[in-house]
Amino acid sequence: MNFGARVTGTGSAFPENRVNNASIVEKLKKLGIETSDAWIRERTGILERRISDVENPAEQNSSLGFSAAQKALEMAGRSPEDIDQIIYATCSPDTLLPSTACWLQHKIGANKAWVMDINAACSGFIYGLATVEKFIQTGQVKTALVVGGEVLNPFLNWEDRNSCILFGDGAGAAIVEQVPADSTQRILSSHLLSDGNLWELFHMPAGGSNMEVTPEVYSRKLNKFKMKGKEIFKIAVKTLSDFANYALKKNQMTVKDLDWFVPHQANRRIIEAVANRLSLPMEKVLINVDRYGNTSAATIPTALDEAVRNGTIKSGQTVLLDAFGAGLTYGSMLLRW
Ligand code: UT7
Repeated sequence: MNFGARVTGTGSAFPENRVNNASIVEKLKKLGIETSDAWIRERTGILERRISDVENPAEQNSSLGFSAAQKALEMAGRSPEDIDQIIYATCSPDTLLPSTACWLQHKIGANKAWVMDINAACSGFIYGLATVEKFIQTGQVKTALVVGGEVLNPFLNWEDRNSCILFGDGAGAAIVEQVPADSTQRILSSHLLSDGNLWELFHMPAGGSNMEVTPEVYSRKLNKFKMKGKEIFKIAVKTLSDFANYALKKNQMTVKDLDWFVPHQANRRIIEAVANRLSLPMEKVLINVDRYGNTSAATIPTALDEAVRNGTIKSGQTVLLDAFGAGLTYGSMLLRW
């Protein structure tokens, strides 16, 4: 390896509309579906989420990514002309063509960059960081922008109370720069794995080339998320714990060496179960699912950004990122901040 890769700036952006559980209860009531604030709080830890107005150009996925990227650039002291590569992690692209990364490039004006989307669902931000890390390590890229951004609400089935209560919209971004290979502050290691055999646990049958969204498909809600929540819950707890342990072991560390654990924010109970399995005190775990719900690829970068900006994460600290997502996809990454 010729170089190391270091995160030098972070940013995040959310739509304006805060939707609390009481509003969800009202919305579902109109559809004849029962839920309650107490159930959502107790079973998920979610108190509210942000929902994009998709008719407002400022709240499109790439626009949220744009705002997050601007803040990350500012923190890193860089400008769009410095960016060599953009990876946009999303499962809710602005359009199938062009990529959301191209929309972002168009908006931000990073004209010397090459750009692409990654769809690894909720693991997408780690997949994106790991990808730019490899380009930076080989010297092909000096400065990269990774965005995890989602506008999930158009894909929610509001008649499925098991899933619609969970998700929110938002974007988080990171600037990643080349540093010497032996730099103390850098990405220490990344670990990725996918299991396509488990596709059925969380998928969307229509909207791709397999199935056009005809009026019949639309009325059967085949263009919306289909999720087997209970099964995902169990796998998530196991794989998040396994991937956290794997990253620590690869770096000859234990949980005692960790300053911060930043897991994918799908459900507070999943996070608590993982912390428990790892014997990691919850004081070391960053949480934002209570205020934003599950924003898929955006959960980790937005939680990171909040902690960096409010001084929780400090220079030189050891941070472990850990995610699972539809696919299924898994990934962990250890960083020295
Ligand atoms: O990024 C990856 C995306 N997905 C996930 O990470 C999902 C992971 N799974 C979960 O977060 C949880 O499994 C859920 C939040 C989806 C469900 O929580 P749970 O504690 O596993 O509930 P459950 O599926 O065991 O259901 C318990 C009861 C059921 O009623 P009965 O059969 O016991 O009468 C459900 O019908 O809760 C009922 N229920 C609800 N009740 C009120 C399910 N959703 C709701 C709801 N409001 N919104």
